[in-house]
Amino acid sequence: MDFKLELTKKINEFENKMKEYLPEETGYQKTIFQAMNYSLNAGGKRLRPILLMESYKICGGNDNNYFPYSVAIEMIHTYSLIHDDLPALDNDDLRRGKQTNHKVFGEAMAILAGDALLSHAFQIMLGAGMNTNYPDRALNATYEISKGAGIYGMIAGQVADVESEGKKIDKEKLDFIHINKTAAMIIACMRSGAILAGASEEKLNALTVYGKKIGLAFQIIDDILDIEGDEIIMGKKTGSDLENNKSTYPAILGMKESKKIAGELIKESKDALKVFNGDTEFLLSLADYIMSRSN
Ligand code: IPE
Ligand code: IPE
Ligand code: MG
Ligand code: MG
Ligand code: MG
Repeated sequence: MDFKLELTKKINEFENKMKEYLPEETGYQKTIFQAMNYSLNAGGKRLRPILLMESYKICGGNDNNYFPYSVAIEMIHTYSLIHDDLPALDNDDLRRGKQTNHKVFGEAMAILAGDALLSHAFQIMLGAGMNTNYPDRALNATYEISKGAGIYGMIAGQVADVESEGKKIDKEKLDFIHINKTAAMIIACMRSGAILAGASEEKLNALTVYGKKIGLAFQIIDDILDIEGDEIIMGKKTGSDLENNKSTYPAILGMKESKKIAGELIKESKDALKVFNGDTEFLLSLADYIMSRSN
């Protein structure tokens, strides 16, 4: 399998279908539609929707019923980035290779665009759940996504992240931050995809472990790229963490140790997929890509 080619195909497939869910830029609230679409269309790796789709497929899903959830998760992720970039949080000017949402639309609209993407994601998921033959799976998947995004997930991590600026924290707290702010949404992708496909408990557990390991590794690499990465390739500014005195893996454990831990997590994530017979080639390559990525 040519992983890069497969990944590009999946990104294109997702982006084409996502278009059907974007609001038309008209009406008195036109500005909010423009602000939402601006950030959604800016690009990005589309990692989360692709993970959700892949999880659905390897658990036997063979139709497009996962699709609204993959759009919803990308909307929630995009909202988290818009808010993360605000002056009150990380105060960043560049995202996905473009000016950040608040730089283009102003802070008020950027806050509202985040709110809008979050609530619209739930409208999409619940709308899908009202029109399915598997309402229990739909409800369960929506629950997983709400949990990943919420106060026992992404928000928990963001709160501890902001409050740990300029402080020396231990590895336990750092892992709390990283697992919640980043891995929780990735776990939600794996679990909701599997649940929608009616996966067994064993497969659901394996995908949860995979999601947690790649999710933590993903944030460690994000921290590393903030120091060693290339702004143009990443489409966001480097040095942001240092400027904000953030508690990151390299800041607390050093660069060498951070890379070592990320590598171990990737290996463990792949081990977790052993319960599947075949079909895991893409997810195995994706784990390696998370380690070697430059954007
Ligand atoms: C950025 O996520 C925020 C983190 C959790 C590190 P991504 O690196 O997946 O951002 P996009 O979606 O590709 O822009
Ligand atoms: C943010 O982590 C994670 C989110 C929940 C958005 P970072 O603040 O490190 O993400 P980047 O580096 O700005 O993308
Ligand atoms: Mg942040
Ligand atoms: Mg940030
Ligand atoms: Mg970062």
